[in-house]
Amino acid sequence: MSKTQSTSEQTPSGELRNTGTLEVKDSRTDKSYSIQILQGGVEGDTAARAMDFRQIKTSPDEFGLMTYDPAFMNTASCKSAITFIDGDKGILRYRGYPIEQLAEKATFLEVAWLLRHGELPSQSEYDQWVHDVTFHTYVHENIKTFLQGFRYDAHPMSMLCSAVAALSSFYPEAKAIHDPEQRNISIVRLLAKMPTLAAFCYRHIKGLPFIYPDNSLSYTENFLSMVARMSEPKYEANPVFVKALEILFILHADHEQNCSTSAVRAVGSSQVDPFSAVAAGVAALYGPLHGGANEQVLRMIGEIGHPKNVAGFIDEVKGGKGARLMGFGHRVYKSYDPRAKIVKALADEVFKQVGMDKDLEIALKLEEAALNDEYFISRKLYPNVDFYTGLIYRSMAFPTDFFTVLFAVARAAGWLAQWEEMLNDKEQKIARPRQIYVGYGERPYTSKLTTRFPSTSKDALRK
Ligand code: CMC
Repeated sequence: MSKTQSTSEQTPSGELRNTGTLEVKDSRTDKSYSIQILQGGVEGDTAARAMDFRQIKTSPDEFGLMTYDPAFMNTASCKSAITFIDGDKGILRYRGYPIEQLAEKATFLEVAWLLRHGELPSQSEYDQWVHDVTFHTYVHENIKTFLQGFRYDAHPMSMLCSAVAALSSFYPEAKAIHDPEQRNISIVRLLAKMPTLAAFCYRHIKGLPFIYPDNSLSYTENFLSMVARMSEPKYEANPVFVKALEILFILHADHEQNCSTSAVRAVGSSQVDPFSAVAAGVAALYGPLHGGANEQVLRMIGEIGHPKNVAGFIDEVKGGKGARLMGFGHRVYKSYDPRAKIVKALADEVFKQVGMDKDLEIALKLEEAALNDEYFISRKLYPNVDFYTGLIYRSMAFPTDFFTVLFAVARAAGWLAQWEEMLNDKEQKIARPRQIYVGYGERPYTSKLTTRFPSTSKDALRK
């Protein structure tokens, strides 16, 4: 069922209100309980508080009923006013603004401001914001030495994750997360330095000298300059690429409580500094089921190799031996991911300018085959944002293993907005899920060892 739609312009209260009760009867005790049903903003999400179930028990000394929800399939871990998704209708909005309008008209930094502050910036707010972010693009020189310690074939997501975590040691004052000024400067620093760190990772892998930020350029132009500039005194980016990257950054900026955002919130809830919390987000994004899917889509297309092999590959996926159609399916979207629609149109525009990607035909054939196949239709599997992004990134000459880094640069805006929202939410505490223990009861220790200190080093020498 789709959520209630509303075009209401009223400022949301941010609070949950009671909208009814759930009458629960425990068959073990015959006792009945009234559980409040809470409703969020104008969009109609409803939930019951898991803690309200704790009162349900068979005896006073029992712990009480928990809710069991592996992978958070049906658990809201927070209230949030940042991003709205209606997965059935394929709707995505940041702070109420449709993603289609933002992608067409806004800039990435304007969206980053919007995500964090809840409203679009005025001209003077925007000017100051762009100035601040631009002012902090440089990184400490030791970051260069740090990145040079990685092997030439290190995965750039692994480098980025470590570099973001390392920033925590350069800015120990970022620990003061309850000081709004410290919070602000940390957010500005991280947004400013993500493109620099990402570009430095790229240059290291390529064995190229690091290019310092050029603060006369826009956010995306400066990023492209740090990635691609060689000996030219002034880098001039291809305007088609600048526009495409700006749009892709906007599309990737936030996506409510996905795996990496939940990681940032969970780690941030221990009150660690934001650099450490965001490093956790980068690590989560790296996985192939999350941001790493854009990389896997191109690897999959490479393995398929030719449009004539598409039908065989689809059969393999349906065979249930573990192969997945990467870039398809989504936990929340059960219709076409609205970002994928925009990316597909963007790919057409980019290819018009720079020539057709050789693998686009395979991708289009895969999409067509899947959208007409009962296996995918019945499971509501549609292309997600990652299906076409890789083809665009490749046409911009980014290496395949760099795609997720581009996602991370953009998602930092959402991670930081969500992190700050969590800190300001009085109901939030350290994230600490419960478990249902299914292991042994108490048993006495009886060792199975004959020696406690085997001499492994001697064995290693012998081998
Ligand atoms: N190819 C083939 N079958 C699939 C796919 C796929 N891409 N995705 C889901 N299914 C099947 C799955 O096998 C299961 O079938 P059955 O009911 O017969 O067991 C059913 O659809 C439900 O799948 P699920 O794994 O329970 O769904 P989920 O909500 O846990 O997983 C997902 C969501 C995104 C991890 C999954 O769809 C997937 O692995 N997709 C491919 C990876 C991908 O493209 N990830 C990017 C997601 S969007 C961007 C982002 O989050 O960063």
